[in-house]
Amino acid sequence: MQLSDHLEAYDEDLKQVVIRISEVTKKISRGFASRQGVSDSSNIYGEQQLTMDKWADELLIAELRPSGLVKSFASEEQPDVLTFKSSTDIGVTVDPLDGSSLIGVNLAVGTIVGIYRGSVLSPGSEMVGAMYVLYGPLTTLNYCLGDGVHEFVLNDHGEFILQEQNVMIGGSKIYAPGALRRDYLPAHREFIETLEEEGYKLRYSGSFVADVHQILHKGGVFTYPAYQGREQGKLRLLFEVNPMGYIVTHAGGAASNGEQNVLTLKPLSVSQRVPVYIGGKKEIELVENLMKGE
Ligand code: AHG
Ligand code: MN
Ligand code: MN
Repeated sequence: MQLSDHLEAYDEDLKQVVIRISEVTKKISRGFASRQGVSDSSNIYGEQQLTMDKWADELLIAELRPSGLVKSFASEEQPDVLTFKSSTDIGVTVDPLDGSSLIGVNLAVGTIVGIYRGSVLSPGSEMVGAMYVLYGPLTTLNYCLGDGVHEFVLNDHGEFILQEQNVMIGGSKIYAPGALRRDYLPAHREFIETLEEEGYKLRYSGSFVADVHQILHKGGVFTYPAYQGREQGKLRLLFEVNPMGYIVTHAGGAASNGEQNVLTLKPLSVSQRVPVYIGGKKEIELVENLMKGE
């Protein structure tokens, strides 16, 4: 079954947004070979942008701005929320390319999208959908519009074909821990040591979208915690944490900043960073208990 058929039951405007973005990601998937290397600019986080970061961002804007489908557009690569001419109330957040430092070594990277009605500065629990596309050996697309997580694979004819319906998080013991061990804060250190004592296997690539995708299928937990010197962690609430947290939650898992469900946080700014734990309910419960001092 093709993506457009699978989306049949949803609101027409949401369906069209998912389809339009999926079309852009097909172009992104074909853009890597001729766009290797770095650009001469930085984003608002002070990170040097790669050629692909900028190109993917510009492509998303160029295709969504005239579409009339999206009213507000926030991107990891843009300082401000852009407003487009549209009769809809749809807001989207994008991380045009996540894991982009791995492009140069040919590991999997992806595009992450959050979908809202109204302001993108709403808590993640008010999202109406999220999706991500992973550019690996296969190009896969996962979406959730509030009713299960569904996975598609890009075939040789350039069509996204249903690969797995109602993806549910696995039960394996995998952990993907960001940040340096020497900078861990005490409760986080205890969490990681507990996982290690319980035989969790390390799987961390440095591409959030790929690492969370692995955990979605196999189980376990991804974390980029608060750490000494950076109490807000590294990852961005709007562009990375909320969309992936929404998807994993709808697949039977959970997402937390260590203290509470990240989806309940009211964003203070588009560029807000947040410590994150995403994975199985059991692992998220464990870290929240350790943070509470239990
Ligand atoms: P981006 O490529 O969008 O800037 O995101 C990079 C993020 C995320 O993908 C990953 O989990 C994390 O940065 C990796 O950070 P470290 O290199 O510190 O492990
Ligand atoms: Mn990212
Ligand atoms: Mn990015």
